[in-house]
Amino acid sequence: MNRINFLILFNFICVDSFYLPGLAPVNFCKKSDESDTCKSEVQLFVNRLNTEESVIPYEYNHFDFCLADETAKSPVENLGQVVFGERIRPSPYKIQFMKNETCKIVCRKTYSGDNAKDNLLLSKLRKGISLNYQHHWIVDNMPVTTCVSSEHNSQYCSTGFQMGCYSRNGKHNCGKLEGQSITQQEAYYIHNHVDLFITYHSGAKEEWGNKLNYKGGRIIAVKAKAKSIDYKGSECRPDASEMLSLPIKKLEKGSSFEILYTYSVTFIENNDVKWSSRWDYILESMPHTNIQWFSILNSLVIVLFLSGMVAMILLRTLHKDIARYNQIDNGEDAQEEFGWKLVHGDVFRPPRKGMLLSVLLGSGVQVFCMTLVTLVFACLGFLSPANRGALMTNAMMLYVMMGSPAGYVSARIYKSFGGEKWKSNILLTSMLAPGIVFGLFFIMNLVLWAKESSAAVPFSTLLILLALWLLVSVPMNFGGAFFGFRQRRLEHPVRTNQIPRLIPEQSIYTQPIPGIVMGGVLPFGCIFIQLFFILNSIWSSQMYYMFGFLLLVFIILVITCAETTVLLCYFHLCAEDYHWWWRSFLTSGFTAVYLFWYCCHYFFTKLQIEDAASGFLYFGYTLIMVFLFNLLTGTIGFFACFWFIRKIYSVVKVD
Ligand SMILES: *[C@@H]1O[C@H](CO)[C@@H](O)[C@H](O)[C@H]1NC(C)=O
Repeated sequence: MNRINFLILFNFICVDSFYLPGLAPVNFCKKSDESDTCKSEVQLFVNRLNTEESVIPYEYNHFDFCLADETAKSPVENLGQVVFGERIRPSPYKIQFMKNETCKIVCRKTYSGDNAKDNLLLSKLRKGISLNYQHHWIVDNMPVTTCVSSEHNSQYCSTGFQMGCYSRNGKHNCGKLEGQSITQQEAYYIHNHVDLFITYHSGAKEEWGNKLNYKGGRIIAVKAKAKSIDYKGSECRPDASEMLSLPIKKLEKGSSFEILYTYSVTFIENNDVKWSSRWDYILESMPHTNIQWFSILNSLVIVLFLSGMVAMILLRTLHKDIARYNQIDNGEDAQEEFGWKLVHGDVFRPPRKGMLLSVLLGSGVQVFCMTLVTLVFACLGFLSPANRGALMTNAMMLYVMMGSPAGYVSARIYKSFGGEKWKSNILLTSMLAPGIVFGLFFIMNLVLWAKESSAAVPFSTLLILLALWLLVSVPMNFGGAFFGFRQRRLEHPVRTNQIPRLIPEQSIYTQPIPGIVMGGVLPFGCIFIQLFFILNSIWSSQMYYMFGFLLLVFIILVITCAETTVLLCYFHLCAEDYHWWWRSFLTSGFTAVYLFWYCCHYFFTKLQIEDAASGFLYFGYTLIMVFLFNLLTGTIGFFACFWFIRKIYSVVKVD
């Protein structure tokens, strides 16, 4: 019931993500029937290997696996894929459609103790296995999965499969063993054999048009079962059952070790699953997604309800205040003024460090626009997991494009503060936030380079990123700022007095720090469940596809951020504290601190990362995320409060 409701809801919010223009189905057929409309060769690509125990992914060629022919070409990758560490390469595995294979040899690797390089290669394999690195293969744009059946006769499939398994201290991670045994001592078993099961939907004339007059099919799933087999010789024997363990120590001089890599392919016909829903089995078995959609919805409802209440209370008290103020004005004997009206001569007094504030707000607008447009695109189905790297490419492109609103907003706000140094303002807006992000990214790239990781961005890509920033984002910024500074200065509804008012002593609730700390709780409360899935998709290579929900959550985040900030703003003004500029930014921006805390929690409870470089990278990426999130939420809060204050002071009569 959950699943069906979920799908209905999902489709209701968003277009189903997997019928994409440009991602047309590929028809396959037997070699004898090959023609323009169908291919017989099923290409298998290999992607980088990764693990939950380290943040550092490695390219396939980092380990000494079998290599593809020199002539085979890698597919073209987009910027998002390159920047976020995908490395798709051709593989030596040859598959023909509808041709079963048993025990085919891919290649043979021999290591000799006389050769120091061979020992190094073996130790890399051992290290990879002991950190549980996972292969990620791709066939027909689908990830190759491994499935295990769980209790209720259902299958749980995950993308990727182990490159090997180990036994140490009486424990092993080899899963269910089929007639094989492992030793109690330390051992590293390399998965040198793969059984590939390719499920296809066989072609019917009616379905695919009359052009097809052959027996063919479309691939709907590829599942792999990796095994470690010691063939004890040069032949591939399907009946061999002993596992192949790598030498634990360095090979002695004169001795040698051999790994025979083999594979089998089985084609299975299944006409119950349509090509268009072939991703479902992967998405459905993502852990928790099915179970938790209800709780997501629940929390959304609660948050909506809560913020509705807040809005109502605020509107009623405000109404009363305004009615009273305006009544007093009409009355004969002028009573003492009270509440937020008292500070009318100070609310629009420019803040200290107005330059920095306006720059942060400009950058926040940039992040906001990027997030919103990306989510809308994702929701419309353009950025599904089937469209690899599209999400990140899109986000980066949008970020640089959104330089102009950033420049415009920063300029206008700065001008309204009476700022004169417009050149520094423009320069800072275009340099500060992107500079921090790029700087962090660059430092982490150095670490990845040092670790020879595949996630290290090639130098040429770094140059492209730099060019995007300096040649697109910066000019965009300048353009926006040019228009911003040409506009007339923002008029405030009330005039600012010459002499600042004294702020009375504040109670604990209206002091700045407690207010700011409280401000982030509610917005964080409405995102933290989604956050779990997002972090999973970033760090545990689970696919994220609930963009409909994400857009919804984003909208609710905006609403809660705005409402809490407005509410706190109101209380502070009632307490005659008029320093609201920075405070409104920090109040909702504090959500980012909770985000950071949550990421730390995730790091220590969910991931099993031990090495320092990995930890460093994790927190580096987290810092970038937190920084951007702080800009985003802070800006939302600020503009909500800004709008609110302009509104309320324009309705009261001030002499
Ligand atoms: C391949 O093997 C499977 C399972 O044994 C069998 O059902 C199928 O008919 C075989 N296909 C071909 C083309 O031989």
